[in-house]
Amino acid sequence: MIKLNVNGQARDVDVDPDTPLLWVVREQLGLTGTKFGCGAALCGACTVHVDGQAVRSCSTFVGDVEGASVTTIEGLKSADGTLHKVQEAWIKHQVPQCGYCQSGQIMSAVALLSETPDPTDAEIESFMAGNICRCGMYARIKAAIKTAAKA
Ligand code: FES
Ligand code: FES
Repeated sequence: MIKLNVNGQARDVDVDPDTPLLWVVREQLGLTGTKFGCGAALCGACTVHVDGQAVRSCSTFVGDVEGASVTTIEGLKSADGTLHKVQEAWIKHQVPQCGYCQSGQIMSAVALLSETPDPTDAEIESFMAGNICRCGMYARIKAAIKTAAKA
């Protein structure tokens, strides 16, 4: 049994420690906002936070995050349902097209702003380079990050 803390809740999961965190989040915990893209730490669709850091859950063993604080896209909003300022900025800029990459994009953007509250264009491009958007919504992603930085 692996003891996890996900979105502020203690969760016990009966899986092998070398199970990818992505599958535990999606299949054991039913948190399907986190997506599978490449499965090889290349696209960012599976991005979640572990102790506030953006990690690729497809390439993170669940046994390695026991005792850590895991946050998924479902855990970003406040307890009263208020959306995170990055989510609000995403809506304002109508960022998603197909939407598949977007939870990973948002989780990376939140991690970026927690490290660098007022990022330059170059800092945004560098930090977000590992999040691929096949719909090419990069200009809107950057604009939304800048809006969230000012919020
Ligand atoms: S699915 Fe994890 S980085 Fe692509
Ligand atoms: S919105 Fe379609 S892949 Fe990013």
